Amino acid sequence: MPARTTRKIPAHKDLAEILVSEAQIRRRLAALAAEIDRVYAGQEITAIAIINGALLFTADLLRLINRPVRLDCVRVSSYRNATAAVTEPQLRSSLTIDIENRHVLLIDDILDTGKTLAMVVDLISAMKPASVRTCVLLDKRGRREVPFEADFTGFEIPDRFVVGYGLDFAERYRNLPCIGVLKPALQNPPEWA
Ligand code: IMP
Ligand code: MG
Repeated sequence: MPARTTRKIPAHKDLAEILVSEAQIRRRLAALAAEIDRVYAGQEITAIAIINGALLFTADLLRLINRPVRLDCVRVSSYRNATAAVTEPQLRSSLTIDIENRHVLLIDDILDTGKTLAMVVDLISAMKPASVRTCVLLDKRGRREVPFEADFTGFEIPDRFVVGYGLDFAERYRNLPCIGVLKPALQNPPEWA
């Protein structure tokens, strides 16, 4: 038996298209982790994950990083059961570890309009860290409403609403091991409203 097999899980059937496969994610994360190790050579990283979306990405990425790491999470919400932003991003739960004079690596699932990361970077910068960098799994460059560039990016993707590997539609599909686009009929199911 091969060391790793791609198992079809039931939610796969809801995808119209896979944009990033499980194997592509695995390969890209290894390269990203190596890049992060280089940039933070000799330093401890204070990783801050924006949950829930960055949960799976953060868990896999941090296991590949060969530096001392402290971890905390913040919760930000801006989407409500829809495939378009309906509210300005709001901080729902804040840090529990101190970050003053620390090298902060802020991790999110996707850079879309840029509003979430711009807001969280401002909050973190006010806490006087030694440095703040950002790492996103996905970047939809074409959707930016505020200027924002991540320091580390997994994949640039087109302007499509995607689910899987942490990204949700109405809190579903975060557990998919790949990233894809839902079948059109599932993009607004009335029973989830
Ligand atoms: P931004 O503030 O517009 O950059 O949005 C960032 C947040 O919007 C992400 O952390 C996601 O939670 C959510 N988001 C943006 N695009 C998508 C998508 O295609 N699928 C799922 N969530 C998304
Ligand atoms: Mg999110």
